[in-house]
Amino acid sequence: MASKFEALRGMEDILPGEIEKWQWVESKARLFFESRGFKEIRTPVLEYTDLFTRSVGESSDIVHKEMFSFEDRGGRNITLRPEMTASVARSVIEKGLLKTTKSLRFYYIGPMFRAERPQAGRKRQFHQIGAELINESGADADFENLELIHGLLRFLGIENPLFRINDLGDAAAREGMVAGLKKYFASVQDKLCKDCQWRLEKNVLRIFDCKVEACQPVIQQAPWDEFAPLSEAFVAFTGRLKNAGIAFEIKRRLVRGLDYYTGIVFEATAPGLGAQDALAGGGRYDGLYQELGGNPAPCTGFSIGFERLLSVLDYGEGALSQKLQQSRIYLAPLDAAPEVMRTVRDTALKLRSLGWKTEITPGEYSLSKHLKKANQFGIRFVLMLGLNEVQNQQLGLKDMQAKTQQPMTWEELADHLKGVLPL
Ligand code: HAM
Repeated sequence: MASKFEALRGMEDILPGEIEKWQWVESKARLFFESRGFKEIRTPVLEYTDLFTRSVGESSDIVHKEMFSFEDRGGRNITLRPEMTASVARSVIEKGLLKTTKSLRFYYIGPMFRAERPQAGRKRQFHQIGAELINESGADADFENLELIHGLLRFLGIENPLFRINDLGDAAAREGMVAGLKKYFASVQDKLCKDCQWRLEKNVLRIFDCKVEACQPVIQQAPWDEFAPLSEAFVAFTGRLKNAGIAFEIKRRLVRGLDYYTGIVFEATAPGLGAQDALAGGGRYDGLYQELGGNPAPCTGFSIGFERLLSVLDYGEGALSQKLQQSRIYLAPLDAAPEVMRTVRDTALKLRSLGWKTEITPGEYSLSKHLKKANQFGIRFVLMLGLNEVQNQQLGLKDMQAKTQQPMTWEELADHLKGVLPL
């Protein structure tokens, strides 16, 4: 009988078979961030609703249409976080973390929640890997932020991420830009959808988030450059990207769907994504800390969509699932004797610490059944361990692909595997 309980729409279980990819990405991301001096931060998934209204912005689609908000038993308005930048800011201000240090570099990995219409690449519970450079102003930090995400994507095996970048300008430039855009959109108001008419009132930049077909020609024709010519600093910034071999294109209509941005903003994309082709997004936000009641703290940062990242990593040759499949070793105890089982456990631990994934079928000691299982799992290497092997301090390695079998010591095995570890 089918279970009458189902997961909520747009919220998915991550099961064995799939979870290995998540673990692989998480451990690589942690390694990458920590090696660059970033520290992990974890904040609660629930926050007061006001936090997001104030930061992401009332006129943004996220706050206006997509938040999972509700009143708790105490009558407090709370929300499942739709993103982390605001939560990190709340935490830094609340705990006074900038009192003892000039700047902070944080990274995070975790679930976010947006009540969007679920489809491929768009979930209601999704995950992000992100980083924030806090109290870091200037072009060097902007460059470091982009170089950081570029470096991380490359470290994960994405050869050719493409960045779309724009400059939302400093406060003065923004004022002129907003006034100009308001004038333009007011002149074509009758061609705008109802939502955009509301956006024109509330925050004209949000019109660029509109997906309604009928609004697109008017949006495309917005004379953006007339109101906000690209600054010399931005042009110099793009020169640095070129020198660093970071592929980018300038997209003037890229405003990002969150209100807190100021200055340079960007999105990243890569082959392997469908209609939802934004793999990551980020940029400078210099006013957020003050907006939330803290001291001014210029910041920049980015978030990568975890699910979309996995689609990219599993696309084309050298797909992650294949690589992970090859990095699994099946451990086959041929005897239930305690000394055999102890050696199996110790060997599994040592293999795992070398980056190999291990599989074992508890309670099974017949070689033919082990080999059948390993075949079912599509595993290339089987490590056989019986009383003989333990007494001789050897392990029997069977390569199912090369159809070879040889006894070896642990040291020989570790050496042998080094040559074939594909990750
Ligand atoms: P965002 O562009 O809203 O930025 O989200 C970043 C990434 O999260 C997107 O590029 C996408 O890959 C993924 N994403 C967003 N919504 C969904 C969804 N419904 N389903 C699956 N994936 C999704 C931010 O969240 C900012 N906090 C980025 C940032 C950090 N800016 C400065 N620091």
